[in-house]
Amino acid sequence: MTELVHTRADLAAARGGLTGTVGVVMTMGALHSGHETLLRAAREQADNVVVTIFVNPLQFGPDEDFDRYPRTLDEDLEICRRAGAAVVFAPAVPELYPQGQPRVWVNPGQLGEELEGQSRPGFFHGVLTVVLKLLQLTRPDQAFFGEKDYQQLTLVRRMVRDLEVPVEIVGVPTVREPDGLALSSRNRYLSPDGRAAALSLPEALQAGAAAAAGGADAGGVLAAAHAAFDSGSPSVELDYLVLTDPELEPGPVTGPARLLAAAWVGPTRLIDNVSVQLAPRF
Ligand code: PAF
Repeated sequence: MTELVHTRADLAAARGGLTGTVGVVMTMGALHSGHETLLRAAREQADNVVVTIFVNPLQFGPDEDFDRYPRTLDEDLEICRRAGAAVVFAPAVPELYPQGQPRVWVNPGQLGEELEGQSRPGFFHGVLTVVLKLLQLTRPDQAFFGEKDYQQLTLVRRMVRDLEVPVEIVGVPTVREPDGLALSSRNRYLSPDGRAAALSLPEALQAGAAAAAGGADAGGVLAAAHAAFDSGSPSVELDYLVLTDPELEPGPVTGPARLLAAAWVGPTRLIDNVSVQLAPRF
């Protein structure tokens, strides 16, 4: 049975009644089969799964889609039940921010200003602030995050390490449509033409990964990825396409690496990434 709670008092009571380990999956709702995979991964590793559903205003810029972000609680609950979640915490905004915007936020540091942070100023301050609050409220042994939001996963790992938060962060591989498009709650904004055009993103990443597997160096991987992107739909506007080390640290890239991209498909911004293996440099 899945218990739905909306207040921190009811969450504390429900959390207190759980015996064994607890895994949390934090979401903004609009759940899809990528989330279901996260929930099932959590269910396999933890005795109990707590899901949070909260569209966090702190991580939306003034011109972003906070108001139109899909809110589908009934369908979300069905997915949580199917995946065996014990508790779903779906607070209203004032329940989490009773005094309005917090005075103290988590600072993601330099990495928070790059990639997603460059296009979305303040985004990771908002993400890390709510993630830390939700970790405090749910007190999990493990927290599961999708690799699709790779920079978010990296920053959450850094936060729990740097701030001594007692939780294990588990990354779960991206779930894709059969044609390669990464599942995202924002895919539902795409028109049929946009949906087809959006394939430029995974195709570029796959071309980069294939080039690496064929022995290309960092420059060759990026060139292959750009060439594939450029041969896709001209209606998709690239924001960034970068190859970095797996921790997103600056410096020369060699051995295991990550290829990350973001692009606009009309008004919809999509992100994606893949792991690539470069030949080690001697
Ligand atoms: O990845 C998301 O859905 C959000 O950024 C998260 C982690 C739930 C925080 O609001």
